[in-house]
Amino acid sequence: MSISETTLAGLVRPDSVHKAVYTDPGIFELEMQRIYGRAWVYVGHESQVPRVGDYVTARIGDQEVVLVRAADGQVRVVYNRCPHKGAKIVPDGAGNAGKFFRCSYHAWTFKLDGSHLAAPLKMGLEGTSFCAGDPQFSMAPLARVESYRGFVFASQCASGPDLRSFLGGAISSLDNFCDRSPEGEVEVAGGTFRVLQRSNWKVFYENLHDTMHARVTHQSSVEAARAECEALGEKPFELLIMDGNGEPYEFWEKLELRAYHFGHGYMEGIFDPAAATRDPVSKAHFEVLAAAHGEQRAREILGMNRHNTVIYGSGSPHTVFQQFRVIRPLAVDRTMVEIQLFRLKGAPDAVFDRALTYTNLINSPSSNVMPDDVEVYARCQQGNATRGGDWVSMHRYHGTDRELPDGMVSSNGTSELPMRNQFAAWKQWMLDTGATAPLAPQEARRAAA
Ligand code: FES
Ligand SMILES: [Fe+2]
Repeated sequence: MSISETTLAGLVRPDSVHKAVYTDPGIFELEMQRIYGRAWVYVGHESQVPRVGDYVTARIGDQEVVLVRAADGQVRVVYNRCPHKGAKIVPDGAGNAGKFFRCSYHAWTFKLDGSHLAAPLKMGLEGTSFCAGDPQFSMAPLARVESYRGFVFASQCASGPDLRSFLGGAISSLDNFCDRSPEGEVEVAGGTFRVLQRSNWKVFYENLHDTMHARVTHQSSVEAARAECEALGEKPFELLIMDGNGEPYEFWEKLELRAYHFGHGYMEGIFDPAAATRDPVSKAHFEVLAAAHGEQRAREILGMNRHNTVIYGSGSPHTVFQQFRVIRPLAVDRTMVEIQLFRLKGAPDAVFDRALTYTNLINSPSSNVMPDDVEVYARCQQGNATRGGDWVSMHRYHGTDRELPDGMVSSNGTSELPMRNQFAAWKQWMLDTGATAPLAPQEARRAAA
């Protein structure tokens, strides 16, 4: 399907969006080229490939890629394709390739950086235009790969903003994520949960800062948690976190929403230094951090009360309960969410156990909270497939957002600023057809000066 630029431009209004952005397969295809074909996308964490030869597969939009630890100790990202007949080199998942990749079809081999190593019966290729040094006979590397504190991102586009400029203010969430470790480092641990959503990828990004849905969509789990607390006469952590969704609207209104260029943002509660020692697990955590950095810094780190962060196109790192929900679009109405759990190096085991409990109860496929969300996302997909209307509303608190030098802020946590910001970024990506990725306004100003 061909979609004109005028049509694309008309799909996003400042306060609403046309439902075709969620339902049109032609638009999905364009997103794979214009957004996922150029943006920085999270591939995986360096700790997933600690030894030379270790690899893990991932997707960047509709492209299958491999994150690998090469012989020089550096991480590389290559397309999962053999240049002979195009066979996928490694199956989905993780493993160790040994000293080189070997294609399972005709045994062409490739160094761990993807470059051509050998093909059997070489004499058959002599006298032809085959040339081992020609990049077309290697596994192709991604145009750009950068790592930030162990989080590896890749871009299929050779030019555009560097990773730090791309992440903008959202980078502070990755910092706080790692700073919670007394060693300043995290590692993937405890496996990965996968949740298949029967909805468009953008619906989940919108939901991550949608505070208005919590007490409605999660009513059943909130009521169950409250009934259980009453029966027990106490509020254990497991029930406390389920009960949290039932907070009144006034609670959500007090949160602050930050929105950055390229669709990123986060949702933050008031900085509360007491949060650092409120319970035995936080207290033990505080003590190791204070030993490493002093009490004041430890209080700052643990007092930063940031809930979901959005890195648009990649997913959502959760700093307080160390997880990264990686969002991989599969089709216009199918999205795979992979939930990676992290251990804070040097922190007490109880901190990891608590994060695991949180992920199990709130986000895993067996959680009784996540299915509520997955159901409403599917209903959005289904409802938008009807002829009952064309536009999706993002009106809440439109016109009240404040501009900051590096983004926007709403001091009412129920504002739909994050959705408006995501679609402003979406529109910019989709209308900009250049070979390079679009620049953030501050970079564009620098380039023009
Ligand atoms: S397809 Fe890989 S060696 Fe033939
Ligand atoms: Fe939810």
